[in-house]
Amino acid sequence: METKRLLLREYEPDDAEAVHRYASDPLVTEHTIWGPNAEADTRGYLELVREMRLAQPRSGYELAMTLREDGTLIGGCGLHVSEPLQGEIGYCLNRDYWRQGYASEAAEALLRFGFGTLGLHRIYATCRPGNIGSAKVMRHIGMQYEGRLREHMRHKGAWHDSFLYSILEQEYADRDREVPAGDPSEGKESGA
Ligand SMILES: CC(C)(COP(=O)(O)OP(=O)(O)OC[C@H]1O[C@@H](n2cnc3c(N)ncnc32)[C@H](O)[C@@H]1OP(=O)(O)O)[C@@H](O)C(=O)NCCC(=O)NCCS
Repeated sequence: METKRLLLREYEPDDAEAVHRYASDPLVTEHTIWGPNAEADTRGYLELVREMRLAQPRSGYELAMTLREDGTLIGGCGLHVSEPLQGEIGYCLNRDYWRQGYASEAAEALLRFGFGTLGLHRIYATCRPGNIGSAKVMRHIGMQYEGRLREHMRHKGAWHDSFLYSILEQEYADRDREVPAGDPSEGKESGA
């Protein structure tokens, strides 16, 4: 998938070093359920991604986020399809490339792929309440805040809440850019 500045492509074996650079970064993984990765974790992730790519039917699309201008791998993003016709998206960038609009650009491409190519009905995403950047990406692409999932996942030794956002196929078709009312993450500044 191409966007103005990005090529979202399948991972290749040579990507391991660039992936590990951000996946092993404690700041990048502060709000993620995985990481910071040891090298074996990154190898395992890339093996899992390879299995997802070969699965028939395919339901997992983990893609390398690369710059079109020079091929640099700056992060990763993904769309995972679940029944019935729903998908979850996610994204993660090397910190050197934060706050330049890349995650929003990639997420937009994932919506186009999910609704346009896969024909999904609903696409959703979650983030930890402190992950203001991630919540902003979701709002930028027209997702609506659905609510707070309370202590629904346990990782890194603690229970965690998540903000849940989603967009429906009809909303994607007539998307406007207004931030819906009742979004508690709007206006706060902190987190990754
Ligand atoms: C969250 C993340 C993907 C955002 O990527 P990004 O490329 O910086 O996002 P964008 O540049 O598209 O920014 C979208 C908005 O969020 C804002 N933003 C980004 N990081 C932010 C932060 N740490 N705090 C507050 N706002 C932030 C941007 O300024 C922008 O807002 P604006 O358009 O009003 O100026 C990136 O910080 C990251 O990879 N974090 C670590 C992994 C992670 O948490 N992934 C998400 C798991 S749910």
